[in-house]
Amino acid sequence: MQEMIELTTPRLLLRQWRDNDLAPFAALNADPRVMAFFPSPLTREASDAMARRCSSLIAERGWGLWAVTLRENNAFIGMTGLHRPDAQLPCSPCVEIGWRLAFDYWGQGYAQEAAHAALQAGFMRLQLPEIVSFTALPNVRSSALMARLGMRRDADPFEHPALPPGHRLRAHCLYRLTRAEWLHREGYTA
Ligand SMILES: CC(C)(COP(=O)(O)OP(=O)(O)OC[C@H]1O[C@@H](n2cnc3c(N)ncnc32)[C@H](O)[C@@H]1OP(=O)(O)O)[C@@H](O)C(=O)NCCC(=O)NCCS
Repeated sequence: MQEMIELTTPRLLLRQWRDNDLAPFAALNADPRVMAFFPSPLTREASDAMARRCSSLIAERGWGLWAVTLRENNAFIGMTGLHRPDAQLPCSPCVEIGWRLAFDYWGQGYAQEAAHAALQAGFMRLQLPEIVSFTALPNVRSSALMARLGMRRDADPFEHPALPPGHRLRAHCLYRLTRAEWLHREGYTA
């Protein structure tokens, strides 16, 4: 049986999904501000399917895209974590770090705090050699977070194969962070 990883930070808990996460997750997935750099907002059905897929991957592997809650009041604020992309990308095979928070929780450092914990789990517990992240070029909030986490941007954008040629979101930037870079940045010495 796979050990299920949960992560605690000063303000947050990253944990396995629960049924009562589904409604607030559907609300953020229906919010055009949150979904501005995705092809479209998600229906309730699509949102529930995504949460259940995240949950089953965490149950299978012990890690994944976790539900993120505030420790002070248990409020569900979104998801953050690690994922093996299904699409064939320039980094494949790879593990990506991803995030999606409800709009009311932006601008408070929560995504960075959650992502830092996910990177630490990826490099220290899972011993991953590299973690990547990517987003549509106009999604500067997301790429700014990648840069704040110390990730390096590939010189060339790539075309995301899940989107049709000419789509406004097809061109993506790719950021990478190796385990060695992470250890150095965090002050670990050999
Ligand atoms: C991408 C996303 C997670 C970034 O969220 P975010 O809140 O901007 O990111 P952070 O958690 O790093 O917060 C940084 C902001 O909090 C501020 N902040 C406040 N308190 C802070 C603290 N204690 N620590 C760090 N930053 C803090 C920072 O100054 C910064 O403000 P700024 O945006 O005005 O510069 C969010 O915009 C989102 O969910 N977007 C929709 C989904 C999406 O596009 N996902 C990515 C797809 S690839």
